[in-house]
Amino acid sequence: MLIENATVLVTGANRGIGAEFVRQLLHRGARKVYATARNLESIPNTGAEKIALDVTDEAQVRELAARAGDVTLLINNAGVSSGADLLDGELDAIRGELETNLFGPLHLTRAFAPILAANGGGGILNVLSAAAWFSAPGATSYALSKAAAWSLTDATRVQLASQGTQVTGLLMALVDTDMTAAVDAPKSSPSAIVTAALDGFEAGAHEITADDLTAGIKAQLHREPAVRYGDLIAPVRTMQG
Ligand SMILES: NC(=O)c1ccc[n+]([C@@H]2O[C@H](COP(=O)([O-])OP(=O)(O)OC[C@H]3O[C@@H](n4cnc5c(N)ncnc54)[C@H](OP(=O)(O)O)[C@@H]3O)[C@@H](O)[C@H]2O)c1
Repeated sequence: MLIENATVLVTGANRGIGAEFVRQLLHRGARKVYATARNLESIPNTGAEKIALDVTDEAQVRELAARAGDVTLLINNAGVSSGADLLDGELDAIRGELETNLFGPLHLTRAFAPILAANGGGGILNVLSAAAWFSAPGATSYALSKAAAWSLTDATRVQLASQGTQVTGLLMALVDTDMTAAVDAPKSSPSAIVTAALDGFEAGAHEITADDLTAGIKAQLHREPAVRYGDLIAPVRTMQG
């Protein structure tokens, strides 16, 4: 599916990767872009149509679908990372990540699937993470939410195949945005990630691994956890003798 002449809805479009999506979509000739965010005033003036949307609010999502019946591409980008771990983190933080990273895209997908069908099939691009495939201490709750969103992406692809909707998952490691401001490690630029995403989407890819680290994690998925997690789980063997 091509971006030129598409009508695209982007969630979390006020900053970070979402704002970069809006910029590149307009540059590639999208007919219309709905830039949505929780706080309307925080959305930059770009030529996109600005709409307030909290992705966790199902009623708001349904109202938006009633208003934006011309959408041909849905980009589920909004996301949060709490830093909580599953076994000792605050349950509210864990639930909050699932509400935003899993139920947010689910609400949007359910509301917009019939619209995409009516408009000829269209597409859905889900912004996932390498964390869908690798759970590291300090982000195990986030990893759970992204693994669930990866499964949602597969399910959506299967369920919407008969209406001709292209469903694509985007997976990447660290990107230089507010989300990772406190992390001191190599990061991709939002611009490189969004270019890889839109190039892959336009080429018809079902899944895009946007950097070498993520491609490497994917290539290891068939191996035993002892190989994939290495030193992270090595103490078990030492302590069990
Ligand atoms: N940065 C990375 O290293 C990285 C790596 C892999 C995947 N990702 C994924 O990429 C996506 C974009 O993240 P980012 O790096 O651009 O992070 P970011 O700069 O922190 O931006 C997150 C965006 O999500 C929005 N958002 C959060 N909760 C929302 C809600 N309930 N309703 C609507 N919007 C909401 C935020 O809006 P507010 O301004 O209102 O908070 C903001 O626009 C996320 O899905 C993230 O998980 C990021």
